[in-house]
Amino acid sequence: MELLVVKNYEEMSKKAASIIASQVVIKPQSILGLATGDTPLGMYKELVEKYNRNEVDFSKVKTFNLDEYYGLEKENSQSYYYYMMNNFFKFINIDKNNVNVPKGTSDDVEEDCLSYEKKIKEAGGIDIQVLGIGVNGHIGFNEPNVNFEAQTHLVELDEKTIKSNARFFNSIDEVPKKAISMGIKTILQSKKIILLATGESKAEAIYNTLYGKISPEIPSSILQLHQDVTIILDEEAAKKLK
Ligand code: F6R
Repeated sequence: MELLVVKNYEEMSKKAASIIASQVVIKPQSILGLATGDTPLGMYKELVEKYNRNEVDFSKVKTFNLDEYYGLEKENSQSYYYYMMNNFFKFINIDKNNVNVPKGTSDDVEEDCLSYEKKIKEAGGIDIQVLGIGVNGHIGFNEPNVNFEAQTHLVELDEKTIKSNARFFNSIDEVPKKAISMGIKTILQSKKIILLATGESKAEAIYNTLYGKISPEIPSSILQLHQDVTIILDEEAAKKLK
């Protein structure tokens, strides 16, 4: 794993955006794996700025998002589809037919999960996957006691995740209890991974990711086995590292 510790959130976002932009410049038809949450917002903003300066062209790019809340329609302002549209896609020249976010509502979840995996495979696999990390070490919505073999599937959200994500909702009761998430196996099949973390609340999860025992208790610990992971941290998130 490559570790980059930068001064602050802005530096982290700039570094991540420049890695993604280089990927797209080198391979215009790149397949990007994307994340939501607070952490990558600055990265998306930087990428939009790069696009506005004509430094990067997204017209041939395909994207696959990590996860979506179960039970939320695309149009719901809390859905991850809505987040992606309003924080990134509507500002760039991506073909909206090339955008993929797991379906939050479905008559046949199992079938939709299989077809999500099939679509990733048919696209040629994910070239670079962006990850945030939960305070409990989750990646995507792969919560502690994860099955490392799982592909895209329906997951029950951990208590800590529900609490942490309540900040985006009017009340904790509104936070969905389930989500559709790429599995650890899906994530590990990405050719390259960048994991972003900012703030002291992530410091312990980051320490465990890098130095912890590889165990289903800490889902992110499995990243130790991937051959091309870059972890970009601000100083606060790196606090527990030597
Ligand atoms: C989001 C995702 C989650 C978040 C994680 C951190 O698509 O899969 O794993 O990356 O919960 O969230 P933030 O960035 O809000 O701290």
